[in-house]
Amino acid sequence: MKILVAYETGHGTTAEIAEAIGEVMREAGAEVDVARCRKVEDASAYDAFVVGSPIWAYKWLKPATAFLKKNAELLCQRPTAIFLTSGAAAEAKGRQMAMDKWVPKILSAVPDLEPVAIGNFAGVLSFPKYNIPMRLVMMAICKSQGAPTSGTVDYRDWDEIKAWAAEVHAEFSRRWGQ
Ligand SMILES: Cc1cc2nc3c(=O)[nH]c(=O)nc-3n(C[C@H](O)[C@H](O)[C@H](O)COP(=O)(O)O)c2cc1C
Repeated sequence: MKILVAYETGHGTTAEIAEAIGEVMREAGAEVDVARCRKVEDASAYDAFVVGSPIWAYKWLKPATAFLKKNAELLCQRPTAIFLTSGAAAEAKGRQMAMDKWVPKILSAVPDLEPVAIGNFAGVLSFPKYNIPMRLVMMAICKSQGAPTSGTVDYRDWDEIKAWAAEVHAEFSRRWGQ
């Protein structure tokens, strides 16, 4: 089974999550490519897909949404899982909000897509990496969500991410009868 883990990232957090997902699937016996959405020219050789992006200003990054739209037919025909990374998912209320508000928005790009799984992961807040306009936006967002407004906080739960990847791999294998 050949799997593509396609991701977008602004500051690298989601790239590292995508690599970790790919590694779990490789260890489980799949052939896996991990690639940035904007760099994937032809996705037709893959049997299953994982597509992920951080939430920036309440949405997936544009190249990730463009990837969904461009490959809509393939993704609807073959098992596909999606994931999102956000600051909000660091706490239960924000995680639920991400599921209720942002996931439907992501999926509205491809209404026929029925993901086999949706990963809703907490990411990293890293104020020193943000330029001034970004910092102001993030301070406002974080303040409204009761999250930290300075410094760097890594909320990623690697056990959760790896367990999700193992479950998704098992589901892909089941669907391909392997
Ligand atoms: C400009 C900007 C906007 C963001 N907007 C949101 C947001 O609307 N909601 C949220 O929960 N997190 C938001 N975040 C936090 C990111 O989702 C989080 O930092 C994630 O780990 C970023 O992943 P990346 O390093 O792959 O870009 C934002 C981060 C940045 C830099």
